[in-house]
Amino acid sequence: MAKKKAANSSAAASVTTTLQRPSAEVQYANELASLAKASVKDAKPPGWKRSPRAVLTFVLGDTERDMPAKFVGRRAFLERCIVSLATNRGLMLIGEPGTAKSYLSELLAAAISGDSTLTIQGSAGTTEDNIRYSWNYALLVAEGPGERSLVPAPLYLGMTHGKLVRFEEITRCALEIQDVMLSVLSDRVMAIPELPEDNRMLYAKAGFNVIATANTRDRGVNEMSAALKRRFNFETVHPIADISQEMELVARETNRNLERAQVPVRLDSDLTELLVTTFRELRQGRTIDGKGMETLSTTLSTAEAVGTACAAGIHAYYFADGQVEPAHLVRHLVGSVLKDNPEDLKKVRHYFDHVVKKRKTVSWKAFYDARNELI
Ligand SMILES: Nc1ncnc2c1ncn2[C@@H]1O[C@H](COP(=O)(O)OP(=O)(O)OP(=O)(O)O)[C@@H](O)[C@H]1O
Ligand SMILES: [Mg+2]
Repeated sequence: MAKKKAANSSAAASVTTTLQRPSAEVQYANELASLAKASVKDAKPPGWKRSPRAVLTFVLGDTERDMPAKFVGRRAFLERCIVSLATNRGLMLIGEPGTAKSYLSELLAAAISGDSTLTIQGSAGTTEDNIRYSWNYALLVAEGPGERSLVPAPLYLGMTHGKLVRFEEITRCALEIQDVMLSVLSDRVMAIPELPEDNRMLYAKAGFNVIATANTRDRGVNEMSAALKRRFNFETVHPIADISQEMELVARETNRNLERAQVPVRLDSDLTELLVTTFRELRQGRTIDGKGMETLSTTLSTAEAVGTACAAGIHAYYFADGQVEPAHLVRHLVGSVLKDNPEDLKKVRHYFDHVVKKRKTVSWKAFYDARNELI
């Protein structure tokens, strides 16, 4: 038994080191197993693998159990999200890009259903087949419609096995495709007209629900039909409010990504402060001492701060002596700032000339001295 356990955990360890990004249930398999064990006697909504309290602990972390926080957010907000998933309405996470809507939905699905992979990626090209089911045409011709020739898509699987289904960027889909969710969310049943009459209705098993995400910058939630809106509880995911929590998260995520990329470079606290302060000031259009400035037309999210820091670390490792310098950050800042509007780069130069210039610590000075990299 002990041997089997050790073999399982070493298999999980090798998966987590060879895959670029394992799913949450693989990456945190040990934590999830210990929480399931600890909450075995706790009350759970039907079909859930863990109790609502255990789900909350998994997402927010617990120092006593040596469990790191994964998502940084308010407890009350998370409790509401978890409760939503135990009701007969879906959960809709909306917010600016890069505020961890997808990441939170992955963590919730992993903790509640033990599976975060039943994911529909919403896009202009999403079809009903990608959501409900399609057919294996060779088997369809040979055997006719039946369970063998039916190819299940995430919604079918979630209803069959009583699991959460994630619908990413739902507002990018055409309205008629979004409407596929209407009857499923209200009646919890899917009709499969091609199958024989006694097998035509798929009733959702307990534990099934939907977590959708939508970005408020792209085609917004206004594009959703009122009927569909009514079938979701809406929760807005805000950028991280507290600067020290954001710094901690950026350092942790950056170092983890660098480790995974086998780059033995770490982001020190001075550089983390530099980067997170710059991103927050440009995002909010206000310096930390309260002076107003122009906001950029693009978003500068926490996720992008992590991306910039990782790029700076990789750059330092392969093209310099392995020490991340402020100049590396400046150089990779451009990739986040300059998306579609050249005016944004001008605003960042203005920020360097009027805000960064006045800061006197060694790293801020080095940051300012590297302003010529802003091209
Ligand atoms: N509050 C937060 N807690 C934890 N991680 C966060 C938080 N905010 C941002 N992040 C970072 O953002 C990354 C995930 O971003 P994610 O792709 O989930 O954002 P998103 O809101 O879905 O963006 P988009 O709207 O572009 O799809 C995380 O891996 C983490 O590094
Ligand atoms: Mg997303």
